Amino acid sequence: MRTLKHLFQQNREWAAGIKAQDPEFFSKLAEQQSPQYLWIGCSDSRVPANQIVGLRPGEIFVHRNVANLVVHTDLNCLSVVQYAVEVLKVKHVIVCGHYGCGGVQAALADTKLGLIDNWLRVIKDLRVKHQNILAHGEERTRLNILCELNVIEQVKSLCNTTILRTAWDLGRELSVHGWIYNIEDGLLQDLGVCVTNPDEIEATYLQAISRKRV
Ligand code: CO
Repeated sequence: MRTLKHLFQQNREWAAGIKAQDPEFFSKLAEQQSPQYLWIGCSDSRVPANQIVGLRPGEIFVHRNVANLVVHTDLNCLSVVQYAVEVLKVKHVIVCGHYGCGGVQAALADTKLGLIDNWLRVIKDLRVKHQNILAHGEERTRLNILCELNVIEQVKSLCNTTILRTAWDLGRELSVHGWIYNIEDGLLQDLGVCVTNPDEIEATYLQAISRKRV
């Protein structure tokens, strides 16, 4: 139990499989990474970034936290975004939520889970902010709408970071995308909130929110 041998066994098999296809793969990758994408997604074990979009090691830079939040005081997330945008010079940043998110569900139901309640406070505030949209429908539907609203809000939050604003001011070509993943069928859906410059932030946000109103 101290060594988790089966995971090391699986690791050796995985590495051997890749080497069999491309003997130089790891030695080339060790020299540098040049991913074009930054993924900001949920920590949920069912939402693995690389596998979902079929990308290999070296092709996507990843930050995950519970409920895929971009909080302006979260140095961890901001450092990842800054490194990806300014050093790696990624072209696309993807905020990807997922239906049935446990973090969003806990915020919606106001479940007490401990320390994490503080982290989920952001989504509880969104629940109040969008209470008109969330006033009707079955619990499952309301949960999934809040999952979508959360992505829309985090896209806006990301676009308003000093990092993205500075990159756009410098004329960098950089797109922010908002997607949602369905655990039940493995498929991604684009929420239509792509932002490519600061002038688009507010209009894109308002349009997306108005689509959620019934
Ligand atoms: Co989740």
